[in-house]
Amino acid sequence: MAPRFVCHGCGAVVDAARQLPFRCPQAGGADDDVDHLLVPDAPIFYSSPPDLIRGSTWMAGSSPAMTEKNEFVSSSEDDPFLRYRALLSPYRLARAWGLSDAAWVDIVGMLDRALVAVEGHGFRLTPMAQQPALARAAGHHAPLWVKDETGNVGGSHKARHLMGVLLYLKVLAAAGKPAGDGLTARRLAIASCGNAAMAAAVLARAADWPLDVFIPPDASPTVVTRLRELGATITICQRQNGEAGDPCYHAFRRAVAAGAIPFGVQGPDNGLAIEGGRTLAFEMAEGLQSAATDIDDLFIQVGGGALASALAQGFAIAAKAGVIAHPPRLMAVQTEGCAPLARAWQRLADSDLRDAAQHRSRFMWPWEETPASLAHGILDDETYDWWAIALGMKSSGGSPLVAAEDIIIRAHQLASVNTTIPVSATGSAGLAGLLSRPPSARASAVVFSGIER
Ligand SMILES: Cc1ncc(COP(=O)(O)O)c(C=O)c1O
Repeated sequence: MAPRFVCHGCGAVVDAARQLPFRCPQAGGADDDVDHLLVPDAPIFYSSPPDLIRGSTWMAGSSPAMTEKNEFVSSSEDDPFLRYRALLSPYRLARAWGLSDAAWVDIVGMLDRALVAVEGHGFRLTPMAQQPALARAAGHHAPLWVKDETGNVGGSHKARHLMGVLLYLKVLAAAGKPAGDGLTARRLAIASCGNAAMAAAVLARAADWPLDVFIPPDASPTVVTRLRELGATITICQRQNGEAGDPCYHAFRRAVAAGAIPFGVQGPDNGLAIEGGRTLAFEMAEGLQSAATDIDDLFIQVGGGALASALAQGFAIAAKAGVIAHPPRLMAVQTEGCAPLARAWQRLADSDLRDAAQHRSRFMWPWEETPASLAHGILDDETYDWWAIALGMKSSGGSPLVAAEDIIIRAHQLASVNTTIPVSATGSAGLAGLLSRPPSARASAVVFSGIER
């Protein structure tokens, strides 16, 4: 059966053959305060949509146990979009719409060859290893696993999110479904300060699809040069006095309203983007399974929130599939320069997630000050995907952590000196969360999510 997409806030259901399952069709009314996010409805792994709306049971184990363990890994390929294909809704849509397994392999293979032509490689399982020297330097008396995304497509994990979206668009075209009508005449659009824009530009180039990128004036010149080389059309967005929120995001929303396809990494604008990011957790879970071990804590840097919400969901799925014993405690790390998730979490203490899904603005609104940090990639004014992270933290016993700036700097120094991974300060910011805690004997993991440019 073709997966449907259900809004975790209002319960709207989208048929992905007729309508793009990106932004909830009920989102954006004048008095709308619901937290809208389209989530694939996958009966093997989740509770029914009403449970989602009632609030938060799907990670807690109320859904039927997954019986077919083999389904977690579809094949032995080292391309995550082949290996975990049965877990991806674009694949499940393809099959439900009459495309063969070989047709999926062809679509992934064609994009892979195009990625090789654009940047020398496509998606492959990325390395994960224990880093004992880093653990010692961090005063951590237990295994410390580091997943290294710095060599991934576009230099960060971001392309995983967008590959899920691109595969859906390709499947839609191949199956000739009405939601695909006129799609190739529409441009892709993204708002980003760096890594997500790079990922989008590489993928758009590989797919030969025009892309509009909305970036701030202080985006790295290296990134801007590469975006131009990749053929992206760049708009620089200045902050306007009196305008709340990220001006790049506002410009992106206007482009989408004028017909562009949202090719960004904020879940409320494109719920499908979250799903591709789950492959990162699938890989980590399999790596832990091969090492016959588990982790207790996962420290993840949070900006817009897509990464942490994808990991929470991916680990929950892996636990349900029996690949790991339990999902790790999700510790969501922000900087003191910009911590809207921690603010929302405090307010959640007097409320529950069901309420929060109905009254977003009581919990999440743009950070008032112009944020600053060495980890500039996680300075999103809003944690767009905050609700799903809160769900992940509640169901795993985790919490947000706000790292002081000197700890963000120290984490980056420790990572640079004690590993050979060329990670950026944004990419190592999860480690700052671990450093902010008293030393523990809990096996932990971090994701070095982006390369130093
Ligand atoms: C390298 C890197 N890691 C982590 C993040 C945070 O991801 P998210 O915005 O999904 O929370 C970003 C965001 O730009 C990033 O560039």
